[in-house]
Amino acid sequence: MYLVNTDLSVSCAEKSRRKSAPRLTAVELYAGAGGMSLGFKRAGIDVLCAFDLMKPAVEAYNRNIGYHAVQADLTNLAFHGPSIAAMKPDIIFGGPPCQDFSPAGARTEGERANHTRVFAMYVCIASPKWFVMENVQRARHSKA
Ligand SMILES: C[S@@+](CC[C@H](N)C(=O)[O-])C[C@H]1O[C@@H](n2cnc3c(N)ncnc32)[C@H](O)[C@@H]1O
Repeated sequence: MYLVNTDLSVSCAEKSRRKSAPRLTAVELYAGAGGMSLGFKRAGIDVLCAFDLMKPAVEAYNRNIGYHAVQADLTNLAFHGPSIAAMKPDIIFGGPPCQDFSPAGARTEGERANHTRVFAMYVCIASPKWFVMENVQRARHSKA
């Protein structure tokens, strides 16, 4: 007698492999109220820590996503870079400020656009396997 798996999406063997596989870890930069973290958590990724400058955003994140968001100015690369690298995350993700690129804004690249470079520097310092940077479409054609 043969048992036929009718669930074509995920086999039992694959389900059990996924259960026993170590979970990927991640750190979020520019986390805001945690919209991206919510998606990563739902995808089964273990978000270790999240950073944002704005206190109300960090408070909202901690209430809704989990108590691992910290208020921090990410321009301080020398301070935060080594501690993020020490967490050895598999993934760094985040959405740095987009106002300088947004069609809704003045489209003048200034200090906020520099956070795109700051994000890249964290990726270089921590050297994760993957990174995901979310931004508006025009960011791709910016100087930053
Ligand atoms: C586009 S929003 C991120 C939204 C977030 N991905 C979400 O789903 O809610 C950019 C965030 O960058 C934060 N930010 C701006 N300057 C920062 C800085 N110097 N250090 C850390 N965070 C900063 C803002 O407070 C804001 O929450």
